[in-house]
Amino acid sequence: MPINIRDLQNYKTQGRIITALTAWDALSGAWVEASGCDLVLVGDSLAMVSLGHATTLPVSLDAMVHHTQAVGRVVHGPLLVADLPFLSYQCGCERAVAAAGRFLKETPCQAVKLEGAEPETLKVISRLVRTGIPVMGHLGLTPQSVHCLGWRRQARSAPDQERLRQKALDLQQQGCFALVLEHVPAPLASRLRRELTIPVVGIGAGPDCDGQILVTADLLGLTHHQPPFIKARLQGAELFKRELQDWCHQQRHQNQTAHPPTGDNPPTPDC
Ligand code: KIV
Repeated sequence: MPINIRDLQNYKTQGRIITALTAWDALSGAWVEASGCDLVLVGDSLAMVSLGHATTLPVSLDAMVHHTQAVGRVVHGPLLVADLPFLSYQCGCERAVAAAGRFLKETPCQAVKLEGAEPETLKVISRLVRTGIPVMGHLGLTPQSVHCLGWRRQARSAPDQERLRQKALDLQQQGCFALVLEHVPAPLASRLRRELTIPVVGIGAGPDCDGQILVTADLLGLTHHQPPFIKARLQGAELFKRELQDWCHQQRHQNQTAHPPTGDNPPTPDC
């Protein structure tokens, strides 16, 4: 049986840390499935990691469904969650239900994640949950608002921390089953972990969270721009590039030895 949202709640109650990783296709999906993590997110970070965009904004709903289907073919144990992309849930409840519903109908994912807690977003969350679609919230650095917030650490002042705290309580109130907190001061995450009954899953939010989530490509050193709060466990991109260069070099060398240059040989006559 795959992990479900009630299991995550129980992990929080038992003090068992929740491990979460992102995946964007069947290859990365197989890696994270083998890791034994509890939750796999098909994050819209795939716009940058796998599609080469500068931000998460351009990825379409169709593309997110397509990538979630690929991940869903190989991820069977962890809870599978998909990101609702930019503008798929900001244009009214009806459109948000239709967009989120596509993930539950067309892919094996069991929940969706969306960013922010503005009054319109809270209405959408409440509607999704009443429709039977579990929702994970996301506060702090919310990349879909990068043009307003930048990539920097959020909630650095006391009033901003109080605002974020209120938003977290609102998300819980509207029925979110868990909350991602990205790039915020560790003491704030620690406080929210204790104040909220739902699991708080941190990324660049310090160690005192109910769970930790990372973009797998950052963890493996596969991306060009490493976020300041993630230390890669290996230099994956460098390793792969070196091996591929080495293979090309070897092929050329072996080929030269096996087939010496034809040089001045007369052309083969046409048959
Ligand atoms: O899109 C994503 O990968 C995310 C994680 C950073 C949590 O939202």
